[in-house]
Amino acid sequence: MKDTIIICRCEDITYDDVVKAIEEGYDDIESLKRRLRIGMGPCQGRTCIPLVMRILAQKTGKNREEIEPPTHRPPLTPAPFGLFVGDEDEG
Ligand code: FES
Repeated sequence: MKDTIIICRCEDITYDDVVKAIEEGYDDIESLKRRLRIGMGPCQGRTCIPLVMRILAQKTGKNREEIEPPTHRPPLTPAPFGLFVGDEDEG
């Protein structure tokens, strides 16, 4: 049953995918993010990162406070909003 529980709906990652990755040695949020692409979808991890932090704490025996949240990287240069919505008038 747990293999069908979706943890990251943006990247279609299940509970089982997360547990397998932890068992393979990806035992921190940054490495799990690189391995499974959790937190890289349109919601930027608002839904899945807290769930993965909870699973990681359960599987590694760490306290939730010991699990570091992922770092957020802003764009290197500011981008005009029109770039994202397809506004033809913006440069
Ligand atoms: S649910 Fe994981 S990035 Fe959106």
